[in-house]
Amino acid sequence: MWWLNVSSDNWIGFVTMKSVLLLLVIHLLHCEGRVVVRRDEQLNNRPIIGVLSQEQSKSLQKKYPKENYTSYIAASYVKDVEASGARVVPILIGKDRKYYRELMQKINGVLFPGGATYFNQSNGYADAGQHIYEIAKQMNDRGDYFPIFGTCLGFELMIIIASGRGEVENRIECDVFENLPLRFDHGYKNSKMFSAAPQDVLTILSTQDVTVNYHMFCIIDQNLKNFSLDRDWLVTSHSTSTGGSKFIASIEHKRYPFYGVQFHPEKTFEWKQSKNYPHTVESIKANRYFMDFFVNECRKSDHTFNNVVEENKYLIYNYVPHFTGVLGSAYHQCYMFEPRGITNSCL
Ligand SMILES: *[C@@H]1O[C@H](CO)[C@@H](O)[C@H](O)[C@H]1NC(C)=O
Ligand SMILES: *[C@@H]1O[C@H](CO)[C@@H](O)[C@H](O)[C@H]1NC(C)=O
Ligand SMILES: *[C@@H]1O[C@H](CO)[C@@H](O)[C@H](O)[C@H]1NC(C)=O
Repeated sequence: MWWLNVSSDNWIGFVTMKSVLLLLVIHLLHCEGRVVVRRDEQLNNRPIIGVLSQEQSKSLQKKYPKENYTSYIAASYVKDVEASGARVVPILIGKDRKYYRELMQKINGVLFPGGATYFNQSNGYADAGQHIYEIAKQMNDRGDYFPIFGTCLGFELMIIIASGRGEVENRIECDVFENLPLRFDHGYKNSKMFSAAPQDVLTILSTQDVTVNYHMFCIIDQNLKNFSLDRDWLVTSHSTSTGGSKFIASIEHKRYPFYGVQFHPEKTFEWKQSKNYPHTVESIKANRYFMDFFVNECRKSDHTFNNVVEENKYLIYNYVPHFTGVLGSAYHQCYMFEPRGITNSCL
């Protein structure tokens, strides 16, 4: 700290040092400015993510008899995406391929939420998911980066679409309703999903019961092998239920930016007491990682709406979530959409 101890004798030295410091500061500012600019050039920091709706649940249908809503999105998925720095556009079911293609040209990725619907209902969640999956593959094949993230049922849907949908679905029955840790597979450190994960997040995920499982079906290694999906998909973790079922917990496509998890990262935003969802500081931190990762993937897409007016017409802010938790639903809040075939004023 000699330069602070200045006397008139070494004034010249002080001035020189001050200039050096000033130059250093300018240089640092300059570098920082350049880094920021380069980041903006590379990444889309205003990502908009499509969240696929699904057939209205029977129990919610009864709660809203007059409105006759035919599809919904649990608000926890929307909050999870928003908390990672993106906005949400709802994707309706029961539309033709043109609707999905045109919408996907404006948004930066799609989330297939979990839930409880069958894949064999026409014009529903599975048909919409198949359009989206196939269009996303075409986009990526053309070098147009388009990520998909499937949670629980959405993960199962991706694997079943990849297997080819048929009467026999490539998943097994297994009832798992508990919070479990992940058991990472060999090579997960080199995966797209986990290579940049902080060590404390990995430690929480692998040692604490923080991943929420709520599924009647599982995808097991043999499901992949039977359809040679292990060529294209990398399994990064498994979980084992108390009952002894070992199932795939996280997966990613080796070429496409397609990701799936059997568990529910968004359940930290759900509050039904009997469900025992984790809300500890550690569980929040660990579950946040997945949407942070996915939204970052979506920042690599440069799709945009034509203008702000058009963007505003599609955003989920046009819909008001309902407080369904007080009606007994496992979802604390839900967005609900018009009957199929009836065009919403916005979409
Ligand atoms: C409610 O939905 C049923 C089929 O799900 C349909 O037949 C009926 O016309 C709908 N009612 C209204 C008011 O849209
Ligand atoms: C769809 O699958 C479910 C469960 O396997 C079954 O109960 C239902 O009958 C099927 N529906 C159709 C239309 O095939
Ligand atoms: C894999 O295929 C074999 C032979 O067809 C079949 O017996 C087995 O049940 C399949 N496994 C799964 C998990 O579907």
